[in-house]
Amino acid sequence: MRQFQARIIANRPVAEAWRELVLEWEAEPPEPGQFLTLRVSPRLDPLLRRPFAFSGFSPADPAGGAPATASAVYQVRGSATALLAEIAPGNFLDAIGPLGKPFPLPAAGETALLAGGGIGLGPVLFLARRLRALAAAGQGSPEPRLLLGFRNAASLPELDLPEGSLLCTDDGSAGFRGTPTAKLAADAALAELGHRARLYACGPAAMLAGLAALAKERGWRASLSAEQWMACGVGACMGCALPRADGQGYLRACADGPVFEGGEIDWAAEAARAAPPVKAGAAPRPAQGPAGAGPGKERT
Ligand SMILES: Cc1cc2nc3c(=O)[nH]c(=O)nc-3n(C[C@H](O)[C@H](O)[C@H](O)COP(=O)(O)OP(=O)(O)OC[C@H]3O[C@@H](n4cnc5c(N)ncnc54)[C@H](O)[C@@H]3O)c2cc1C
Ligand code: FES
Repeated sequence: MRQFQARIIANRPVAEAWRELVLEWEAEPPEPGQFLTLRVSPRLDPLLRRPFAFSGFSPADPAGGAPATASAVYQVRGSATALLAEIAPGNFLDAIGPLGKPFPLPAAGETALLAGGGIGLGPVLFLARRLRALAAAGQGSPEPRLLLGFRNAASLPELDLPEGSLLCTDDGSAGFRGTPTAKLAADAALAELGHRARLYACGPAAMLAGLAALAKERGWRASLSAEQWMACGVGACMGCALPRADGQGYLRACADGPVFEGGEIDWAAEAARAAPPVKAGAAPRPAQGPAGAGPGKERT
């Protein structure tokens, strides 16, 4: 992990309110599931760094040509991402990364089922690309199955999605009508796989809760990545606390995750208390996390 000034190579729109950021990457190569934090402005507002999952990494050209690059796909949703969207290539961002625990790779012969939704798209795409490359090289597991959920056809991003990606839309305007969770639940062949499958997912708490329950029912192992609200990003504030499944307190998404095994977190409890994002000008989200610390706090 390093803190450095990362040069922006690209910051392009990929769908309405969605962009892909590509940075010249000077730290060690990130693994799928890891994230970076960015300071989007030298001014005091917004003060806190913002976390984004890596959606890809390209090593430097050994012949001394192109530099190493790392990318993230982000949604413009508040003050920091609105500012980020305005920063042109050639400028620099204060970056820290790679941070956090990556997705564990599937065991030999294990079929990887990947599901991403909303801001969970990036890490799942990165993992799918990595697993496909390993499969093509004859290493590791069979080709992964990738399911991506979107609101509708208009929100599909202009990204180089891996061949065979299964698109799901809430309104059925593209691909399967319904969520990746519903599609996985409806697939009888996958139900037969039992412990020969491992589910990987990143998305909103409600999606992770549904997938954790499905994985338990089917006997699949599950590695789920939380994109929890964060404040310090380094394990000091409990702002990103998630309730442990064993009832013994909380785990921190930034320092203990963001990838957790399905049985580690009480995803249903987390989904129940995670309020939907509040629009600008509306009341802040209710307090969450232990002792009033955490995701309900307004940040700058
Ligand atoms: C490990 C990790 C990886 C992430 N990866 C990505 C990514 O790849 N792409 C991406 O677009 N975003 C990602 N996020 C979320 C991203 O950090 C936030 O969207 C960003 O910080 C918003 O900053 P803002 O100032 O624009 O919005 P804010 O003004 O901070 O927030 C705008 C609204 O969104 C809500 N909100 C903000 N962050 C979250 C969150 N994490 N979960 C639920 N609601 C939230 C706020 O409550 C508020 O209502 C990730 C978060 C984490 C912790
Ligand atoms: S954000 Fe402070 S402990 Fe995770």
